[in-house]
Amino acid sequence: MTVNAPPAQRTDSEPFLILAPMRGLTDAVFRNAFADSFGGFHSAMAPFISTVSARRYKPSQLRDVLPENNRGPALIPQILSNDPEDFAALARVLFDLGYPVVNWNLGCPFRRVAGKLRGSGLLPHPDRIDAFLDQALAGMPNRLSIKTRLGRHKNNELLSLMPVFNRYPLAELIVHPRTGIQMYTGAPDLEAYGACLAATSLPVVFNGDIGDLVTFQTLSEQFPQTAGWMIGRGALANPWLPTLIRRGGRIGVPVNVETVRRFHDRLLDEYCRIFSGPAHPVDRMKGLWSYLSLSFADGRRFLKQVQKTSTVDRYRETVDRFFDTHPEWIA
Ligand SMILES: Cc1cc2nc3c(=O)[nH]c(=O)nc-3n(C[C@H](O)[C@H](O)[C@H](O)COP(=O)(O)O)c2cc1C
Repeated sequence: MTVNAPPAQRTDSEPFLILAPMRGLTDAVFRNAFADSFGGFHSAMAPFISTVSARRYKPSQLRDVLPENNRGPALIPQILSNDPEDFAALARVLFDLGYPVVNWNLGCPFRRVAGKLRGSGLLPHPDRIDAFLDQALAGMPNRLSIKTRLGRHKNNELLSLMPVFNRYPLAELIVHPRTGIQMYTGAPDLEAYGACLAATSLPVVFNGDIGDLVTFQTLSEQFPQTAGWMIGRGALANPWLPTLIRRGGRIGVPVNVETVRRFHDRLLDEYCRIFSGPAHPVDRMKGLWSYLSLSFADGRRFLKQVQKTSTVDRYRETVDRFFDTHPEWIA
């Protein structure tokens, strides 16, 4: 298995696509099943692991990134921390597991994270970020990738940070062009993204609202210097989207709802095996359906039915009934 392909191995012949980290959704079970069922991504980023000051990680905290649990595309683990020494300590553990690149989550928008000066909460503090990078990079053998937003409160905070980032040999900068307080509202701010792109020679990856081929094509024409494209919700809604983008729409992607059904059944079976109690696997699957239902003609009504289920049996029955009606795929 290739644990990790550093960004330098990308080629220019086709767009480089990365599965976005989505905590509670894109875990190892999901990533493996997605790769086997649909393929399309060159790489995937794991949802964040928070550092702990004791620096002793329980097996459950690292399970998602253990190489033996990951058979999909090259994986980049992500760390959420504002402590450079704790960060470097975890990065070293990940290096020993076979990860030459790790990602720093500098974009999490949630108030309980940002309020503690983590994730997007650090963006208004360039001096702290500079000190973090200086200390963390000195203590880790891995290369560092950063995933971030335009700012916490204002859309020019990231631009002000570019001179700081430019001083470090970062593997890449992944930019979601919204502020933290925007969460996922409003449209991605493409002007601000373009300004950040122009302010650095580091590889920059675009992330945000790539939901169809046309959106991707428009963005790639507007920002040809972009080094890669990270896709989250769009691929959960239409799992063939990455393949469609890689083929540039030249060859149609054969959509077979039976493939979606098998993918779904595999996820449900694996979640039932690894989670104890009935609520957890059903909740996981409901999370997936909030995106996947968008690609079915009758998806909205079906989602409501799914949301009412609370036991695995009831859930399975509801989904089986839906697939048995040969639902229309509209993505
Ligand atoms: C449910 C959920 C969980 C997420 N978890 C993470 C995470 O663990 N780490 C991270 O950097 N971003 C996380 N994100 C943000 C996504 O990686 C991505 O930046 C965002 O969804 C925008 O990209 P998209 O429009 O392609 O989905 C999460 C987003 C959602 C909706």
